[in-house]
Amino acid sequence: MGVAKQKGTLRRAWIQYCFWCLAFLLLLGTICMYRIFSTHLPKQKAVSYLDLESFYVPYPNKYRFILDQPHVCELRNPYVVIIVPVAPHDVQARNAIRSTWGNDSLVKDGDVLVLFLLGLPSGSDFIAQQLHIHQENERHRDLLQSNFIDSYRNLTIKTMVMLEWLRDHCLQAYYAAKVDADMLLNVVALTQMLLGPSGYHTNYITGLVWYENVVIRDPSSKFYIPYEVYPKPVYPPYPLGMCYIISMDLPEKILDVSKKIKPIFIEDAYIGLCLEQLRITPTNPPNIEQFVVKPPEEYDRCYYSDLIAVITNSPAQLVSYWTDLQKPGPACNEGTRI
Ligand SMILES: *[C@@H]1O[C@H](CO)[C@@H](O)[C@H](O)[C@H]1NC(C)=O
Ligand SMILES: *[C@@H]1O[C@H](CO)[C@@H](O)[C@H](O)[C@H]1NC(C)=O
Repeated sequence: MGVAKQKGTLRRAWIQYCFWCLAFLLLLGTICMYRIFSTHLPKQKAVSYLDLESFYVPYPNKYRFILDQPHVCELRNPYVVIIVPVAPHDVQARNAIRSTWGNDSLVKDGDVLVLFLLGLPSGSDFIAQQLHIHQENERHRDLLQSNFIDSYRNLTIKTMVMLEWLRDHCLQAYYAAKVDADMLLNVVALTQMLLGPSGYHTNYITGLVWYENVVIRDPSSKFYIPYEVYPKPVYPPYPLGMCYIISMDLPEKILDVSKKIKPIFIEDAYIGLCLEQLRITPTNPPNIEQFVVKPPEEYDRCYYSDLIAVITNSPAQLVSYWTDLQKPGPACNEGTRI
């Protein structure tokens, strides 16, 4: 009997032990689940304040031009001033443009002025880079450099300081064009388009206009914009950043209205937000096929000869296409042109 009773007590103790073990594991599991969900769930629901800041750019701010050409518009009196935003290190792209469509001696009568716009170089060799930039400017006198750090995420600052520069130093021009450094531009065709039959416009902005461009909500995308930053499903219409042209009354108007709209890092979409507030609708160019984002794989002289702005994939390609287009003789064979 004694042995049996002892066995019973042992079994009860064993059961109790198991019970407490289970209870402990349950408790541990609950704590773990709680911690996992408490750290993951809110993150998906609301991006924290600090994270949200990363979708904006630090503007307005007291940026100033450390390299400037403050009198160039007075001296040259251009009809169109073309500003090319370019990375500080990208001297190849600048040289390609200088030797092709930006070449002073080819742009007749001082009608068109080409300037490059840079921010500050970054990286361990920024002092050497800055030295080269100064030397480059000594030689060409065509650089504008503002003192914000040049980066993809800061492109909106570049656009805004470009507008400041135009407002402050180039009101005598009729139009300004913002043209990316990888563009092959037909300066003559661009001027002809602007001088076209409809006369001079104010409140005018043209380029390849994107309508109803959907706001990207995929966090892994380069263009991700959280709902908290811009709640509408689509952006207002805006011309694609690769090349757009504005009448000279617009820099000041956009800058004024921008004070009311916190600047997001997607520079062309931000221009769209400002235009919407100004109730200015961007206009497509008279012939929209002259602005090309995705050119055909094969180069075709006849096709290219009719374009105003087309993306190239390298400075070498820009030079080679441009050189070919300058060759004498008809660009299109008989019967080739559609
Ligand atoms: C501009 O064109 C002229 C005449 O074709 C040429 O001599 C000069 O080297 C060019 N300038 C640049 C910066 O390539
Ligand atoms: C943008 O420029 C500002 C001002 O120079 C700088 O503080 C910031 O780090 C830059 N942001 C990026 C992402 O480069």
